[in-house]
Amino acid sequence: RFRGQVTLDGPSGTGKSSVARAVAARLGAAYLDTGAMYRAATVAVIDAGVDPDDADAVARVVAGARIEVGTAAGVEQVEVDGADVAERIRGAEVTRNVSAVSAVPAVRRQLVDQQRALVASADAVVVEGRDIGTVVLPDATLKVYLTAAPEVRAQRRAGQLGIGDPAEVAALAADLRRRDEYDSSRADSPLRPAADAVVVDSTDLDREAVVDRVVDLALSSV
Ligand code: C5P
Repeated sequence: RFRGQVTLDGPSGTGKSSVARAVAARLGAAYLDTGAMYRAATVAVIDAGVDPDDADAVARVVAGARIEVGTAAGVEQVEVDGADVAERIRGAEVTRNVSAVSAVPAVRRQLVDQQRALVASADAVVVEGRDIGTVVLPDATLKVYLTAAPEVRAQRRAGQLGIGDPAEVAALAADLRRRDEYDSSRADSPLRPAADAVVVDSTDLDREAVVDRVVDLALSSV
């Protein structure tokens, strides 16, 4: 059976989360969604009434917030100071502001420490995010970088949200592009593949094929 860490990084809309969950289930591994942690931090910032672009204020709010993520009976649990925010973190307001919050170095240090502690408590784990292979777990057993053509990513995200109107799909595509540019160009831990990551392009692969490929890579990496 698999023991070790699989990192799954890449831009939004690649199907990273559903692939990561399925790979974790197949490997009998724990699953950690680090994007959910940055989203939960963003809920704390919004509720504190702080400007997400005010880095000092953001750092202060997040330092005082207790952020917890986990899975119970297959359902993702996300809490801020004991309040359930699992639904709220997927909303438009959080999505719009999460890149600014996650660009603050003090926020990253705090959440990366927390991520490493969570990983250390599991003998097998799949961790998804943007900087897991490059920064959080540079010695991971297997690093995967998942990409797909931008139009395909926008279509998949639209499908998930049940959006069919072309103007809305175009707005979604613009939002994905904006977030990817922000995440890729920030000074601290920008989105990019680790030098030793296996790049998997899912443009022409369905989810099952991507899951099979990552599971095969994981099993042959130990
Ligand atoms: O993966 P998800 O879309 O939930 O991530 C939301 C945002 O959180 C990303 O756009 C990125 O700004 C941030 N993030 C990050 N580092 C991670 C995971 C997510 O900066 N490891």
